[in-house]
Amino acid sequence: LVLILDYGSQYTHLITRRIRSLSIFSLCISGTSPLKTITDLNPSVIILSGGPHSVHAPQAPSFPDGFVEWVEKRGVFVLGICYGLQLIVQKLGGVVTVGEKQEYGRMEIEVERTGGLFGLKKIGDKQVVWMSHGDEVAKLPPGFEVVARSSQNVVAAVESVERRFFGLQYHPEVTHSPEGMDTLRHFLFDICGVTAGWKMEDVMEQEIKVIQRMVGPDDHVICALSGGVDSTVAATLVHQAIGDRLHCVFVDNGLLRFNEQERVMKTFKEELHLPVTCVDAKEEFLSKLKGVVDPEAKRKIIGKEFISVFDEFGQDLERKIGKRPTFLVQGTLYPDVIESCPPPGSGRNHSHTIKSHHNVGGLPKDMKLKLIEPLKLLFKDEVRELGRILNVPVGFLKRHPFPGPGLAVRVLGDVTEGNALEILREVDEIFIEAIKRAGLYDKIWQAFAVFLPIKSVGVQGDQRTHSHVVALRAVTSQDGMTADWYNFEHKFLDDVSREICNRVRGVNRVVQDITSKPPSTIEWE
Ligand code: XMP
Repeated sequence: LVLILDYGSQYTHLITRRIRSLSIFSLCISGTSPLKTITDLNPSVIILSGGPHSVHAPQAPSFPDGFVEWVEKRGVFVLGICYGLQLIVQKLGGVVTVGEKQEYGRMEIEVERTGGLFGLKKIGDKQVVWMSHGDEVAKLPPGFEVVARSSQNVVAAVESVERRFFGLQYHPEVTHSPEGMDTLRHFLFDICGVTAGWKMEDVMEQEIKVIQRMVGPDDHVICALSGGVDSTVAATLVHQAIGDRLHCVFVDNGLLRFNEQERVMKTFKEELHLPVTCVDAKEEFLSKLKGVVDPEAKRKIIGKEFISVFDEFGQDLERKIGKRPTFLVQGTLYPDVIESCPPPGSGRNHSHTIKSHHNVGGLPKDMKLKLIEPLKLLFKDEVRELGRILNVPVGFLKRHPFPGPGLAVRVLGDVTEGNALEILREVDEIFIEAIKRAGLYDKIWQAFAVFLPIKSVGVQGDQRTHSHVVALRAVTSQDGMTADWYNFEHKFLDDVSREICNRVRGVNRVVQDITSKPPSTIEWE
């Protein structure tokens, strides 16, 4: 195991992912975790991440007392990156000062010592790296040597091969350090002797065994399928482990996309053979949403309604199988559970957060279910890979995210008014199909249409019309936290707009949303 201790750098997850891309298992935990947490994980290599703090700041995060003694006794290799390097230097008896020359961005470094971090490189070899630091190393701890310096003569890499401590002032994990991955690879394989062998097939087998050990032979498990990638992959995995003692529920709340219920149920049943019940709750949801225009009120109503549908599902199941289900499957992913050392003022917190059932709006507290979260150590792209191994259709794995409250947050105002939902479904389908035909679907994070509760004047077939306006939204994003609008070619927009107005009754105007997030959000409500 390669353990990353996080000190708040925006690149910490990237280090974890880069190492996993070398087929080495790596985990990331808070840089201030207790020593026992670290020793229990029994890592062979520890990487201390970068971070926005200065080691001189009063609240500067650091590894726990006894850390250095433990790693030296166990022979664990330690690599510090940026802030991590400065922590090593300061804690092992060197000196870090506020640098005269701050270094941000592209920088050239020159190798001063070979054999260690820079392996077979020659003295005097140069490489371009990505720096981001204000403090710098002024005096090395005993036994350390400078391995490279920047063109501004600032220490760029240090090591004590004997003590197994290494440090890079720059970020090897970012693509702006073109030789960074080679350095990491050399460090892990050649210096630390780590062997590659972490494969998604092994993760799958291991998780199946864990689930089989956890769930007793008479236990039953429930899972709410949203039609999204995470819950589908999680349910498919649990199904492989315990078969039909898994009971899935898919709720048709009347807020789904065009033919969504038929499409996902077909995949669940015919391709994945999941034991799934489709609950038709259209009436219940839509009657409660009648007349409601406030976005938050809509979300609350939908969340509450989901809870009552699940409650009923649980009771029905109990009547059918004669006992209460004891476990609940959730598709929680690794980024949701990582404890981190957030930068001051970032608003991120230190606590371990188990995602509340965001996709479906919550589950009744008195269900008293134990959680099965088989994806909680995986990133999204790894979940997709696991899904591929589990034979989840690729088209399904690549679907754009869809919010739990569904089309309710895409019909502005009262969702039950007129035929807003039908109009939106048709427009959305035309837009998405056009995106797929143009080969753009996988380039876009999320695309959808929005129904606006306003009418405008138009002229169609020589007649004056007073019809609805719809908006098209397509964004690119890495994680949904920030997003940019997707710039379609004019011909594409022209074709889509024409097709919508020609085919969808009640629409005579199409507009495009060209705002990024921030200042907007991806959804309109
Ligand atoms: P916003 O609109 O906040 O959306 O920029 C960010 C991402 O989250 C999705 N989203 C939701 N997903 N339940 C969900 O499961 C929700 O209530 C919800 N609201 C927004 C949104 O589609 C985008 O991918």
